[in-house]
Amino acid sequence: MAIDSSFEENRERVDTHQGHDVWGPVEEPEKLGIHGTHVAVDFDICIGDGACVEDCPVDVFEWVDTPDHPESELKADPANESQCIDCMLCVDVCPVDAIDVDAGRAGRA
Ligand code: F3S
Ligand code: F3S
Ligand code: ZN
Repeated sequence: MAIDSSFEENRERVDTHQGHDVWGPVEEPEKLGIHGTHVAVDFDICIGDGACVEDCPVDVFEWVDTPDHPESELKADPANESQCIDCMLCVDVCPVDAIDVDAGRAGRA
């Protein structure tokens, strides 16, 4: 299952993390929601593959520890989503389609 690209309509903004939005539901440690808005990563789909972290030309992603999450204990957090240049590499390389990037969707400043 890929990230829902309509998460802004279908989910509630429940928190912020490292300056970006978190879209619920969140029930730690099993359910972590979607992190980011311009660059959105569904933490419940991410398996910690790391291709996005390695390939992003402007280092948008930083690892975060997610102990006891059923898919993986590391997630790629869009910590620097405001730096994104919309190259879409991360969207293409993620093996589980956990990332959605929308040039028209603004994250927090
Ligand atoms: Fe990086 Fe993905 Fe943006 S690879 S530049 S976060 S579209
Ligand atoms: Fe996760 Fe996909 Fe990146 S599995 S670490 S979002 S390439
Ligand atoms: Zn985050």
